[in-house]
Amino acid sequence: MFATRLRLRDFRSYERAEIELGAGLTVVHGRNGAGKTNLLEALYFGCTGRSCRTSNEREVVRFDAETARVEVDLRDAEGRRHALAVGFSPGETKRLQADGVLVERLVDVEMRPLVCVFMPDRLELVKGPPALRRSHIDQVIAASWPGRSATRRAYGRALAQRNALLAAIRSGRASRDSLPAWDAELARHAIALRDDRAAVVELLAPRFDALAAALGLGAGAQLRYRPRSKAADAAGLAAELAERVESDLERGFSGHGPHRDDVALLRGGRELRAYGSQGEQRLALLALLLAEREALAEARDTLPLMLLDDVMSELDPDRRRMLADLLSGAGQSVITTTDLAHVPGADRANVTRLAVAGGVVLRDAAAAA
Ligand SMILES: Nc1ncnc2c1ncn2[C@@H]1O[C@H](COP(=O)(O)OP(=O)(O)OP(=O)(O)O)[C@@H](O)[C@H]1O
Ligand SMILES: [Mg+2]
Repeated sequence: MFATRLRLRDFRSYERAEIELGAGLTVVHGRNGAGKTNLLEALYFGCTGRSCRTSNEREVVRFDAETARVEVDLRDAEGRRHALAVGFSPGETKRLQADGVLVERLVDVEMRPLVCVFMPDRLELVKGPPALRRSHIDQVIAASWPGRSATRRAYGRALAQRNALLAAIRSGRASRDSLPAWDAELARHAIALRDDRAAVVELLAPRFDALAAALGLGAGAQLRYRPRSKAADAAGLAAELAERVESDLERGFSGHGPHRDDVALLRGGRELRAYGSQGEQRLALLALLLAEREALAEARDTLPLMLLDDVMSELDPDRRRMLADLLSGAGQSVITTTDLAHVPGADRANVTRLAVAGGVVLRDAAAAA
């Protein structure tokens, strides 16, 4: 499945725009503030119904306009055409359409393309606290095996219930006798979640290692799951919870279980989070996203659309070439850059170039020729 055309109306700095995307690489270039990231965000918005940039979606509506609208035309592997549309006015329910039919959520739409996005602020995934990596890995689980997304939710609910019970015991509103039953329930969901996370990391790890090497991060890059509990089964984990009851009661919440897991990105056995340079952390994030793309391709038989914002900055010329080579393989990707010269091979005939200036998109004369 790939996106062939994007139409925007009153989205960010664009009053109206319509662009054609290449089946392979599209490079969006222009000066700072020209509207490159806005275009990438619009494509994400059209494919998922959400912004990849802000949780305050009012921001996407063009200043002084009322409704932002994005339409994405798609073509599947058999050449059939599809269309997604998102209309958004602040304070109103979003209007999501798939092939002209109103839907509640785009995530449930079978034909929507999966999207992987790199934005500079996503480096937090490498540099930031474990919570970001946990939730990211859980999203990869949900994207790879939609049926398993329920595991994470079930664990979250059981954890909230146990925390509520701890609070009730502390304030004398409940007795401790009911804890073991809840612990058994929590432990069951915890082990299921740990299994899913272990499975997805196992799927990603060899690819991460190979892609990190292909991106010039050097040999010995590792993605490693670090579960908080090493218990053999649910009964073992329930016993671990029981051992920690006193400290949990003191704190008022559960301090043990998969909500304290981490996924480490390492090179030479050391955490890139602590020891990696800016460029190395960037390469590690790219290797992770590309590994996810390959894993999704295998699990769902479709290559996700890659949206890469300002990805070439901070990379040296060799690494830029390595990344460009990886992207020029199969699949569709859209890259933004302030300088076309930073995208090796951008002048090739099979690359679509779009120049952006002041909220207006121009297809490069060279590309049209
Ligand atoms: N809701 C909005 N309505 C109108 N303009 C907006 C809106 N939101 C952002 N903008 C404008 O969009 C411009 C930024 O666009 P964008 O982030 O796409 O730039 P860019 O080309 O990615 O630049 P850079 O190279 O610096 O990353 C800013 O000038 C900003 O004022
Ligand atoms: Mg930008």
